[in-house]
Amino acid sequence: MADSSSVKTVLITGATGYIGRRLTHRLLEAGEYRLRVLVRNRHKVQVAIADRVDICEGSTFDRDALDAAVAGVDTAFYLIHSMGSGKSYHELDRQSAENFRSACVAAGVRRIIYLGGLGLRESASKHLLSRIETGEILGAEPDRIETIWLRAGAIIGSGSASFEIIRNLTQKLPVMITPRWVRTLTQPVGVEDVLSYLQASIELVHKGDLVVDIGAEQLSFQQMMHQAGEVMGLRRYLLPVPVLSPRLSSYWLILFTPLPYKLVSALVEGLKSETVVQNDHAARYFPGIQPRPFKKAVIEALQELETNQVISRWCDSSGQQACDIKDFDDPVGAIFRDVQVVPYEDGETPEEVFHSVCALGGLNGWFRYNYLWRLRGLLDKVFGGYGLNRGRRLDRELRMGDAVDFWKVVDIKEGKRLLLYAQMKLPGQAWLEFDIQPDQLVQTAHYLPRGVLGRLYWYAVLPFHHFVFADLARSVINASRPSFEER
Ligand SMILES: NC(=O)c1ccc[n+]([C@@H]2O[C@H](COP(=O)([O-])OP(=O)(O)OC[C@H]3O[C@@H](n4cnc5c(N)ncnc54)[C@H](OP(=O)(O)O)[C@@H]3O)[C@@H](O)[C@H]2O)c1
Repeated sequence: MADSSSVKTVLITGATGYIGRRLTHRLLEAGEYRLRVLVRNRHKVQVAIADRVDICEGSTFDRDALDAAVAGVDTAFYLIHSMGSGKSYHELDRQSAENFRSACVAAGVRRIIYLGGLGLRESASKHLLSRIETGEILGAEPDRIETIWLRAGAIIGSGSASFEIIRNLTQKLPVMITPRWVRTLTQPVGVEDVLSYLQASIELVHKGDLVVDIGAEQLSFQQMMHQAGEVMGLRRYLLPVPVLSPRLSSYWLILFTPLPYKLVSALVEGLKSETVVQNDHAARYFPGIQPRPFKKAVIEALQELETNQVISRWCDSSGQQACDIKDFDDPVGAIFRDVQVVPYEDGETPEEVFHSVCALGGLNGWFRYNYLWRLRGLLDKVFGGYGLNRGRRLDRELRMGDAVDFWKVVDIKEGKRLLLYAQMKLPGQAWLEFDIQPDQLVQTAHYLPRGVLGRLYWYAVLPFHHFVFADLARSVINASRPSFEER
């Protein structure tokens, strides 16, 4: 890094989201800037980088936090959206962008860099319209602050929503009856290229506002499926029919992909009309970036999955159910509990037990009663939840905010505690806590029922809990023995 007085301070908002996490890593690797992140919960910042960035805790709806975050900043990335916040997300998006621009202008920030969606206002889905309005609001004072607005369609990278849809459908379904929109043209872009454009936007010499559409080759969803199949060595058949409505195809997609209905239906809505690049600014202003072809982006994404190198996933943001994870890290208000206490009897250490706990879920499964967990996952899917499809980001490592099947990590203390919050469809709230003590594991399922139905639910599943939870705690300890993996 250069002389510290000349080093620019760069602010990344949305630094716990899909793009923000990767951009933070990219800019840390480059080592050219002093990095600051604005996050709603500081514990979600990965431990490994927490002491290399300046962390400001707060949201864009908290003016004091915003003012502290933008003070002394040269360039500010806006990588936020409110889609997970229910019906009013449009209004929240608008307010958030207003607050951000106003704070940046007041603090004398030189430039805002925003990543929005690709597509025309006339044919925009509700979600895209909100992304367009956000860009317009951020760029509304060109004489006081510069704005670079990058617009991307489907982003292809390990864990991205578009890639996960394509990967899951390609791997699971040899033949697909598809709606007509699978032939609509779109222009995907690899996540590494998105990061390159974002990074290069900091130093781009340009006065005033600039809108830059980014994308690789034009492809329909059908072509993307075929190409992804070729990369995976799978032959796939797509049969477009006119009768599949967007709603029906969304239901179809949620059964075979990890994404929830709300996200899927927004993506399907967006695919109804063409989303292709409308200007040549990417090539003109960023001649050094040659977007990689779709197939290459798929190969890289698959490699990251295979080598356990996934930095972020579409479900990293807290989203609707746990907007601020801080509220969910103490299940003290729960009414029902299932407590299992299992002493370590075979020389296990708390560290070994902790690592065993942190390997639960995903492809590793939930031990002996896996079929019951799968049944619960299927029921969850049917009722519009995540089911077990989200799996895990990495095989053996967890961090705050990680999804583990239908759970979310809401507290993790190395060698001591793991607390999972249930994001499955439930008439109440549930947590699964692993308290790793020096000589025993205390595993507690906490449940706070909602109304009579919530109580009935607890009694209905009680017989299953009897087997599943007792077995889970014992199996975690068994799996923690060094000899376990060798067996
Ligand atoms: N991912 C894609 O495939 C894709 C494609 C095209 C364009 N884009 C654009 O890229 C941008 C970033 O998207 P993404 O996929 O990275 O989103 P994401 O994974 O859903 O993350 C959103 C981030 O925003 C934070 N956030 C939300 N509301 C906030 C608020 N009021 N104050 C502070 N932080 C807030 C979230 O924090 P918590 O962790 O606390 O929830 C999270 O870090 C968006 O503008 C999106 O339209 C994304």
